[in-house]
Amino acid sequence: MSLATVTTLPWVEKYRPKTLDDVVNQEEVITSLKNILKTKAVPHMLFAGPPGVGKTATAHAFARDLYGQSYIEDGWFIEINASDERGIQTIREKVKMFARQIPMGGEIGFKILLLDESDQLTDDAQHAFRRVMEQYSATCRFILAANYSNRIIEPIQSRCAVFRFRPLLKKDIIDRIRWIAEQEKLEVDDIALETIYEFSEGDMRRAINTLQAAASISSKIDEKTVYYILGYISRGEIRKILELAMGGNFTQARDELRKLIYVQGLAGSDIVSAIYRELFYLDLSEEDKLELLDLLGEVDYRIAEGGTEEVQLMAFLAQLASKKKRRQT
Ligand SMILES: Nc1ncnc2c1ncn2[C@@H]1O[C@H](COP(=O)(O)OP(=O)(O)OP(=O)(O)O)[C@@H](O)[C@H]1O
Ligand SMILES: [Mg+2]
Repeated sequence: MSLATVTTLPWVEKYRPKTLDDVVNQEEVITSLKNILKTKAVPHMLFAGPPGVGKTATAHAFARDLYGQSYIEDGWFIEINASDERGIQTIREKVKMFARQIPMGGEIGFKILLLDESDQLTDDAQHAFRRVMEQYSATCRFILAANYSNRIIEPIQSRCAVFRFRPLLKKDIIDRIRWIAEQEKLEVDDIALETIYEFSEGDMRRAINTLQAAASISSKIDEKTVYYILGYISRGEIRKILELAMGGNFTQARDELRKLIYVQGLAGSDIVSAIYRELFYLDLSEEDKLELLDLLGEVDYRIAEGGTEEVQLMAFLAQLASKKKRRQT
């Protein structure tokens, strides 16, 4: 590999698990797959779960562990993406080409075909695919990956061993990100790690992409770098605006808000989300918080309906200011 390829390789690929042992968490799935590897009796499988938790990566790792590192080059494994293909006819042709012959000299009598994003197929296409599965099951095992198992027709589900992938836990994501940061010689502080996790929602792909984007700005990554990358407002900034409004410094609050909207170019709905997160920490009675939450919902709705962001958000800040006053009297 040339230096240029090394430096531009997306980290989600660079740090993709190579073997089942590299896959973070998904313990039940990995244990079952390792048992299957021992007997080499491979069923058709359905990998279901949210985005970025290792379904595609696990299918590859499994095939590599089963056939060896040139599992693709030697013709044992192929990946077809259901959402890229032009229809079931194309998929059928590809399966036919792939599954009609078994490579010579291997001890395993079948190949593996990964149909990624299989829940993108219509029901009709899935019925057709089920027939393809049956036709070629002597020489080919199918792994179907999907975000929603309930979008896979029952006749396919009943022919597959179903493996459920889970959103990754905080520790899983933080440990992996910290490890990648070490490999890349980055300094990432703890709050930045927490923030990367918080916005990943358990999606490792998103977490790694955020880290890589942050690293393109600086090799020292703190909370601010992460917020900047995500196009979000840092907690400090939003808190400042809320506190200015509560303290009666309305004009200053407006100026700060305008900076977010017109200078940083943030979307009104993102500002609403940031206020939502911060509202719980403000020095207000529970009753007032509830009322403000209600109002915030309305602001969010009006902005979505095309209301002017500045006007709607200022109306909210005005209410916030009146709350503080009421508390003081
Ligand atoms: N459990 C995991 N352990 C280690 N790395 C992971 C894990 N899950 C995801 N990753 C990282 O994130 C990348 C994307 O994961 P993968 O393509 O397997 O997600 P997926 O579950 O197939 O998502 P989608 O539903 O969007 O297809 C991987 O290349 C890898 O770098
Ligand atoms: Mg995938």
